[in-house]
Amino acid sequence: MTRFSTKIKATLAAAAVATGVSAPQAMAEGMEFQTVTDLLHLVMSSDRTVYTRMIVNRLAVQEGVIKASEHFVDDKALVLPAQMFRFGSELVAESTDEFSYSLLSLWPINKQNAPTTDLEKEGLEYIADNPGENFYGEEELGGVTYFTAVYPDVAVAEACYACHNDHKDSPRTDFQAGDVMGGVVIRIPMDS
Ligand code: HEC
Repeated sequence: MTRFSTKIKATLAAAAVATGVSAPQAMAEGMEFQTVTDLLHLVMSSDRTVYTRMIVNRLAVQEGVIKASEHFVDDKALVLPAQMFRFGSELVAESTDEFSYSLLSLWPINKQNAPTTDLEKEGLEYIADNPGENFYGEEELGGVTYFTAVYPDVAVAEACYACHNDHKDSPRTDFQAGDVMGGVVIRIPMDS
């Protein structure tokens, strides 16, 4: 069974508390990589859904009082859900290299969000072909072996697919409610 360094155990115990798992129990027994990425993803996707439904969809789509825009400073607009997610991941990257995460897609509006490793591509194809399932694998990058998990990013609100289908840079324009639009990739070095 794969186990964690004390440092990541402590970090993840905090995530476990946030998701209702017994932290002392998790720390005492050690957690498998998959449990850890599952818990991290649960917090990420919950925050992402809340931001999209309760802020962007409510204020921009239902009430129409403010729009969401990638040029949020110039437009005095709401930050896009994907930007909200990326800013969080960039802040995490400033504090730790014990895990990293990103939001990617086979149909990216921003070409930088396309998969770059073979495993990312395989994972994104798997979650698109198998709705409701996650993908887990291991990959070696720059001499380091990583546990890499890919979780489906689903169109949970009208704002998601309406904006992507209408966006000039979107390579796909037929997204519908509930579709897998991309994936959250979480990566943990296995030998730290
Ligand atoms: C108002 C427009 C808008 C809304 C609403 C929106 N997106 Fe996006 N989304 C974008 C833009 C623009 C990007 C590229 C952002 C960047 O520069 O990284 C993006 C990025 C993404 C990506 C990464 C791949 C890509 O296309 O670059 C995924 C996956 C994604 N969005 C899914 C969703 C989902 C799921 C929702 C709802 C929870 C959502 N989006 C809501 C405009 C939007």
